[in-house]
Amino acid sequence: MTTRDEKPLSVEQVDEVIARYPGRTGDVLSILETLQEMHPLKYLPPDTLKYVAERKGLALSNVFSVVTFYSFFNLRPQGRHTVMVCRGTACHTRGSKLLLDGLLTESGGSVNGDDASTSFTTPDHELTVRTVACFGQCALAPVVAVDEDIHGHMSDLKLRRMVRGIVKGEAKDENS
Ligand code: FES
Repeated sequence: MTTRDEKPLSVEQVDEVIARYPGRTGDVLSILETLQEMHPLKYLPPDTLKYVAERKGLALSNVFSVVTFYSFFNLRPQGRHTVMVCRGTACHTRGSKLLLDGLLTESGGSVNGDDASTSFTTPDHELTVRTVACFGQCALAPVVAVDEDIHGHMSDLKLRRMVRGIVKGEAKDENS
C-alpha cells in the first residue's frame, strides 16, 4: 500500500507563517488556515496547534475552540481526493446510503477510526469521503461531488469505478 508523505511542517515553515501575522490574537484564524493549506495532508496536527498557541501567547483551549468551530479545519489527515456524498432526503430515498456503503467497502472497511457513517479517510490517504446535507441539485439525486466536480444520478458501480480511476490518476468522468 502506498502512503502519502506525512512529513510535518518544519518549525521554520510554521515560524514564517506566524511572522506574516504579527497581531496577538486576531490573525490566528489566518495562521491556522495557511498552515493547514501548506500541510501535505491538509490538516492541523496537535503539535502545530500547541506551537501556534505558545507563539501567540494563547491558551491551547482557545486555539482548539477556533479549529473546532470552523468546519473547514481538519484535525485528521485528509485524502488526496475527496468524495462528498449527499445525504439529504431526495438523495437518501434514491440510494445515497448505498453509495456511502460502497465507498466504505471499496476502502477495505478500514477508515482510521473515524465515524464511517459521516466521514472517513482511507489509510493510504488517497481518499476522504464526507457527507453533505444537500447540494441543491435534488432533481439529479443521488448526487455526489468528486473533488470539485458534481455528478448526478450516481450509481454505486459508477462511483466505485470513478474513484478507482482518480486514485490511479485517470480521468474523473467515466461513462458507464
Ligand atoms: S438532497 Fe441531495 S442534492 Fe438535495
